[in-house]
Amino acid sequence: MSAPTHAASAPGAAPVVERPRMTVIGTGYLGATHAVCMALLGHEVLGVDVDAAKIAELASGRVPFFEPGLPERLREALDSGRLRFTTDFDEAARFGDVHFICVGTPQAPGSDAADLRYVEAAFTALAERIDRKALLVGKSTVPIGTAARLTALVQEVSPLGTELELAWNPEFLREGFAVHDTLHPDRLVFGVASAWAEEQLAAAFRPILEEDTPLVVGDLATAELVKVAANSFLATKISYINAMAEVCEATGADVNVLASALSYDSRIGGRFLKPGLGFGGGCLPKDIRAFAHRAEELGVGQAVRFLREVDAINQRRRVRTVDLVRELAGGSLEGVRVAALGAAFKPNSDDVRDAPALDVARMLYLEGASVMVYDPEAAENAHRVYPDLSYAASMAEAVAGADVVVLLTEWQEFRDADPAELGARVAARRIVDGRHALDADAYHAAGWVYRALGRPADSQTVALGTDHRDEVVIARS
Ligand code: UGA
Repeated sequence: MSAPTHAASAPGAAPVVERPRMTVIGTGYLGATHAVCMALLGHEVLGVDVDAAKIAELASGRVPFFEPGLPERLREALDSGRLRFTTDFDEAARFGDVHFICVGTPQAPGSDAADLRYVEAAFTALAERIDRKALLVGKSTVPIGTAARLTALVQEVSPLGTELELAWNPEFLREGFAVHDTLHPDRLVFGVASAWAEEQLAAAFRPILEEDTPLVVGDLATAELVKVAANSFLATKISYINAMAEVCEATGADVNVLASALSYDSRIGGRFLKPGLGFGGGCLPKDIRAFAHRAEELGVGQAVRFLREVDAINQRRRVRTVDLVRELAGGSLEGVRVAALGAAFKPNSDDVRDAPALDVARMLYLEGASVMVYDPEAAENAHRVYPDLSYAASMAEAVAGADVVVLLTEWQEFRDADPAELGARVAARRIVDGRHALDADAYHAAGWVYRALGRPADSQTVALGTDHRDEVVIARS
């Protein structure tokens, strides 16, 4: 554990509430999971959202998005009597000793900057109502300097004035692993402005800290920076191997063999070094853009200019996947029937925000292909964003009569598919493995033309090391 940055609370300072009552403002992905997990850890928790429909669903035990394990844990938390939901900010202000703000910070329309309107609204709505000592804790991903600005804002509008304190506690959970990552994080990070805030946060996370979870304490700006620095690093690692894939394509080298060789160097490691269609989702793409934008505002744009390149490499993978499908189709996509396997930005999620899979499906469609999309969980969300694409109810239906199959999200169902059975359904045995997830040898043996980004046309199966920490097992009824 790092040394506390502040001396212990001075005598006479506000007492720390050892079993703080908590609110979680914003019950999306992050907030719903945080509220459930905090209740499971023994805290009294009130989940708050302006979306009455979402609150009603959660209160009745239904999770409004797909996350393995969360529905069971939500019901457990509700049954414990420690978790409730409301849309009432007056109740929230009265209830909480510690308020976690978990609202979204999407990319602003027409800009690379983060849109902070929801964060500002949530902090203001609470602060206006708080008239007893409480700690406001931001968990949303925000541009550096936001917490300092919000501190001034909340202290101005709150009856409590400068007594109302703000801390930042970035969250590193991954979709698909949300419950595990919340209950057993790799580390906790507290950005605080006083010893009281640090101690109050430590009390809130006591059960997790008692598991010897590393704790890093810093100031508000550093805590904000940790989050974007971590996501930038992960994005850079993925784009690094995908840049190498581009070099492989120009030289006949094989990026899977390369990635495998690099991964044995323990200083590099194999996680987030999987080549393919690249990163998407509601976090990595918008976070690196917002970081680059903020750095430019701060006059240090040059320091992270490489993130623009990381983004560009990532976008090129999508275009190159379309190129491969076109190549396999004989040079034109006009009228070609393409089965697109996957729509979610990654497996075990129904999230289609900035999903590389859907982007590729859209580009194929715009070039005249007839695209049939299948995703085990994300079809409904995908249909909402791209109603023009066709959606199949099963993998078998999607591939029926296809001229080219393209794997875009590496769901286990696609990995497990039998190439011979699949081959019996398609019009032509041609497949682009956009995620390097399939057994190339098995596809060749079943008579398929198999292609993957950054690999020669006759590439053999190269098993990329998997890590149990990245494997989700989903029980299906
Ligand atoms: C990411 C971070 O991993 C979390 O630590 C962070 O808390 C979260 O963003 C956030 O900011 O809230 P997540 O968006 O759930 O989590 O997804 P990741 O598991 O990071 O995957 C991101 C993308 O990278 C996916 O599209 C995935 O397919 C791709 N990826 C991942 C690769 O292309 N190659 C890899 O080797 C790994």
